[in-house]
Amino acid sequence: MTLAHKIEDYLIHNQYPSLIKYMGSKSKIMDFILDGINQVYDGRAVCDLFSGSGSLAGALGQQCVVHSNDIQNYSRVLADTYNKAYFENDMPNADEIIIQAEGLVLQHRIEFNLNYDKGISLKSFNRIENKQKKLIDHKFNYKWHLFSKNYSGTWWSYEQCLWIDALRQVAEKYKNKPYYSVILSSLMFGMAYASQGTGHYAQYRDAKTQSSLKDILLYRTRSIKGYFIRKYEEITNYIPKSPILMPHRSTSLDYRECLEVFEGGTVYADPPYCFVHYSRFYHALETLVLYDFPTLQIQRGNIVKGRYRESRHQSPFCIKSQVQRAFIDLFEGMKTSNSNMVLSYCNTGMITIDELYKICKAVLPNKTIELLTTDHQHMTLGRREDRQRDVKECLLLIF
Ligand SMILES: C[S@@+](CC[C@H](N)C(=O)[O-])C[C@H]1O[C@@H](n2cnc3c(N)ncnc32)[C@H](O)[C@@H]1O
Repeated sequence: MTLAHKIEDYLIHNQYPSLIKYMGSKSKIMDFILDGINQVYDGRAVCDLFSGSGSLAGALGQQCVVHSNDIQNYSRVLADTYNKAYFENDMPNADEIIIQAEGLVLQHRIEFNLNYDKGISLKSFNRIENKQKKLIDHKFNYKWHLFSKNYSGTWWSYEQCLWIDALRQVAEKYKNKPYYSVILSSLMFGMAYASQGTGHYAQYRDAKTQSSLKDILLYRTRSIKGYFIRKYEEITNYIPKSPILMPHRSTSLDYRECLEVFEGGTVYADPPYCFVHYSRFYHALETLVLYDFPTLQIQRGNIVKGRYRESRHQSPFCIKSQVQRAFIDLFEGMKTSNSNMVLSYCNTGMITIDELYKICKAVLPNKTIELLTTDHQHMTLGRREDRQRDVKECLLLIF
């Protein structure tokens, strides 16, 4: 197959700002992914069907039309930052945003003795944490208090939650502006770097020993404001100074629906590889974006420790009994959308590469299928010894 034009070398993707820490992000192996895409790319649009942190939008957006899609709404915001945001003269600088947020923080702050001194005892620390967790039962007399209520004393302290709520409230003023996503993405960055969790929001850590206390304290005293400013200034310098001419799209659809609306081209599919649901790991980001005061999941009469949203997406790619059907639907959808595909998967996934190959051949008997592999150190995102394990990343090229 002759390529219409080759996607340029990868200088460009090295320059896009990183926005969040994301399990399964392909930013570290982007050269490998782009190599694969180049082999089937036909000059039409590229659809990033499971866009997650939006890394492909960052790498490709200046070179070809990208349709970014993911079932999670925060992913759309991240893709918008890479591919749709642009500077307008009325865009506030970081100081202007912070002044507005600081006003809200001062107005809303409840007197709380958050004394996180270095020499604090385990007992005193846990007493403060428990007091903050009880804010979930507090009646707040203003609207923008979702994080202060639900997450104080969990991944963040009350003070950090106060700032998250305030910055989120300020963002809302700019909802219809082309830089709205920049504000939200900078806030997601701040949330990630101030969080005492292990890079996601599945579980926060409990201070059980002096050493865990010491580590958690490092995060408790971090400033959401500082991280926000740093990222906001970086993204402001990165986004174009005039409207984007390329018709990029970002959607929050199930992959099957997205394939129905994608006009055809190259589909890059990077579905979940294992049984853990992204909606559990990143529920706090979804809640930040939707700010919808979700009902929290209850187990045996109590709110679950992770304070997850009750209705979270359960991906068929993460469920053993559904994963085969999920891939059949993926290949069927590709047929309907008249596209080529590059599919990322690994040798330790929910289904073997052999099975995947067989399903693909059965649904698409007339397509050529090739396999590319690389040895990639896979992040587990824990703070454990086995933080990285050897995983072979594979690309199925289907054209
Ligand atoms: C491996 S991650 C993608 C990572 C992404 N390529 C990156 O570099 O950040 C898989 C993504 O699939 C999304 N997902 C899971 N089930 C989905 C579905 N039914 N439809 C659309 N997206 C889904 C998850 O929300 C998650 O972001």
